[in-house]
Amino acid sequence: MIVDDEEFHHLNNPADGIKPIVKKYLGVPNSAEQKGNKVFFTDGDASVEVTIVNKDIIRVRLAPHTVFLDEFSYAVPELPTKATPFNLTETELEFKVSTAAVNCHIRKQDFFISFSDSNGITTSSDAAPMHWEENVKFGGYYVFCTKTCAPQESFFGLGDKATEFNLRGKRLKNWNTDAYSYGWNQDPLYRSIPFYISVNEGIAHGIFFDNTFKAHFDFGCEDATKTSFWADGGELQYYYIHGPHMMDVVKNYHILTGTHPMPPLWALGYHQCRWSYYPENKVRVIANGFRQNKIPCDGIYLDIDYMDGYRCFTWNPKYFPNPRKMIEDLNANGFKTVVIIDPGIRVDDNYWVFKEGKEKRYFCRRSDDYFMEGHVWPGRCQFPDFTNPEVRTWWGDLFDDLVDLGVAGVWNDMNEPAVFGAGTFPDDVRHQYDGFRGSHRKAHNVYGMQMVRATYEGLRKQMKNKRPFTITRAGYAGVQRYSSVWTGDNVASWEHLKIGNVQLQRLSVSGISFCGTDIGGFSGEPDGELFTRWIQLGTFSPFMRAHSAGDTKEREPWSFGEPFTSINRKFIELRYRLIPYLYSTFWEHHRYGFPILRPVVMHEQETLANHFRQDEFTYGDKILICPVLEPGQQSRTLYLPKGKWYNFWTLESVDGGQEITVATPLDTIPIFVKAGSVIPEYPVMQYTNEKPIEEVKLNIYYSDYEVNSFYFEDYGETFAYEQDIYLEKKFIVNGTSKTLSIKQSMEGLYTPRYDGYHIKINGLPFKPSKIIADGKEIKEVSVNADKTYEFKFSKNFKQIEILK
Ligand code: GLC
Repeated sequence: MIVDDEEFHHLNNPADGIKPIVKKYLGVPNSAEQKGNKVFFTDGDASVEVTIVNKDIIRVRLAPHTVFLDEFSYAVPELPTKATPFNLTETELEFKVSTAAVNCHIRKQDFFISFSDSNGITTSSDAAPMHWEENVKFGGYYVFCTKTCAPQESFFGLGDKATEFNLRGKRLKNWNTDAYSYGWNQDPLYRSIPFYISVNEGIAHGIFFDNTFKAHFDFGCEDATKTSFWADGGELQYYYIHGPHMMDVVKNYHILTGTHPMPPLWALGYHQCRWSYYPENKVRVIANGFRQNKIPCDGIYLDIDYMDGYRCFTWNPKYFPNPRKMIEDLNANGFKTVVIIDPGIRVDDNYWVFKEGKEKRYFCRRSDDYFMEGHVWPGRCQFPDFTNPEVRTWWGDLFDDLVDLGVAGVWNDMNEPAVFGAGTFPDDVRHQYDGFRGSHRKAHNVYGMQMVRATYEGLRKQMKNKRPFTITRAGYAGVQRYSSVWTGDNVASWEHLKIGNVQLQRLSVSGISFCGTDIGGFSGEPDGELFTRWIQLGTFSPFMRAHSAGDTKEREPWSFGEPFTSINRKFIELRYRLIPYLYSTFWEHHRYGFPILRPVVMHEQETLANHFRQDEFTYGDKILICPVLEPGQQSRTLYLPKGKWYNFWTLESVDGGQEITVATPLDTIPIFVKAGSVIPEYPVMQYTNEKPIEEVKLNIYYSDYEVNSFYFEDYGETFAYEQDIYLEKKFIVNGTSKTLSIKQSMEGLYTPRYDGYHIKINGLPFKPSKIIADGKEIKEVSVNADKTYEFKFSKNFKQIEILK
């Protein structure tokens, strides 16, 4: 008898000895059973669970033997619980689960799962039934999902991948990796964000494959008609996230995985880092250098050399004999101190952190119960198991001395985790995994996220009502709830400037808005031009920090002499002027789930050409930036999305919906402001809160159609905003050929200390004869040569009218 291999599904099948399960596909679904917001389907052997999360999000899970794994996720701490109305229907051909926005179809013939929108347009469909294959070495299964890939479908997301913004045609892997001096197309890198957005024929949807094992994505690479994702273990569990706009997808992804908490205002300033500023006097010299050069700066970093033999939570007594005094002095000079912490704890029985961790059995262990050891900066190290909640509490409490000394932020590094030689931990290392236990295969990608979570939660406890600042290198989906990130050890090259620009946009649409690159490049030597071009990109990176390796030349914004110093100053000052705008954009992110950087495709996804634009992006909703990414470039072409724009530098008005060419001498980059915008601006200060704000400048850009802008204000350093103590202002700008009207409304319980606005009207197409604010005529108006008009008025105005 000839027996098809495919028929052997059980290890003990007596007919042909012992065979592992090789690529087993779901069969035919023969029943549908509804339980609350879930519907279960089975082919008799395996089960599929479909959960209605909300009207736009449907989760699919597969249990090869009908037994689902424990429902636990570091990415999605809580599934939204609001009951969503849905219908389960059955026809001859299919089962269908429908919400007001999405239909999930389960085809009877072959268990293909597809999704369509309320217009009946299919947005995603299986190209094979979900399948799995036994992992003989470790147990469990490799789990696979294969969907169709349409001829013009584009793909975005997946975190920090160093490749084209559109992932079409790529095959990529998620496995957190210490990737020193990575190159273009190198994969994997430091973070694992298993979330992608598809845009096909103008309609977007997202897939979030919440599986922490090593995971793979193929976007039409192996077969141009197929998109697949699979993992080396764990459960086949994914969320289908409906669009139709990319923005809807990202917002819904944030509903699942959370957003960044509001940062302390100072964290939006400029940060200076180096491996390492030491001894103490060097730190003071650098800090003074900023003040002498009149270049604003808020944060100064201490890399590993502040420690005693690289032991975390210690100070090198020779280099830093009195850290309290140094931090106090830095504070008085307007600098916040951020210190690095690594997960590797030096094996040393005279070192209290090691002793405590060892006694309490907080370090990771191998499966045969020997402690897990590896080499990192301090030499031989053991590593806390941050997936154990008790260890996280312990770790968080270890920061009490640093907080007491006045440290304001903590930089979490090497948490992929990185181990010299081996790369990372062996697979058999055990993790507590919040009680759901697992090997390193399962915990690897979340290790860094749990480290920074422990750090953040500890700091939050100890800093009382103050907002902690954290930055991490590794992460998994949801890491944004605890930290900002940087893109790791990049290189001082023009290519890396380009990579960084793409990485930041990608991180931003992948849930991680608070991101930045090592400005200037970590390794290698930038020349003045490259450094300045990088500062210009950094001015519009949500997180702005220069960093460099220890074996490179001095790398402060004044290190390259003129004209570079002045241009760097001009841009860092611009960063500070725009802080209220960035902060408002941050609020839009935190509260409403908008990304901070928005690639062009996010504005106009209907146009295929936009799927391939990756240089220009908007910073928030109102300002479009196009960095200069080539040496010696005196002009460049960029695309302006539809609508009217103003050149930020010249105030010239330009129609969008077209490519334009703009001069790019070294002291500018293309910056355009959307017509109708109200951009709040602070006076330049050497650090945030240097002086009380006496008035806020409102830059208003004329528009002949209605445009809304938001302005968010609060204390900038406490969690009072969680108790609704903030002010959310809305401006509505609209004009005609003879009028411009600006309306303001506000909501919230916070009262800013300043009294008035300094209002600047840009782009007015007529000469005003009258300006009326809340019924009163404003007489004192300055008229500038560039046809802008400036006047002052109360911050509480309701309506201003400018008449020809
Ligand atoms: C890693 C980090 C880098 C840091 C260095 C020393 O390479 O990525 O930013 O400066 O370690 O701590």
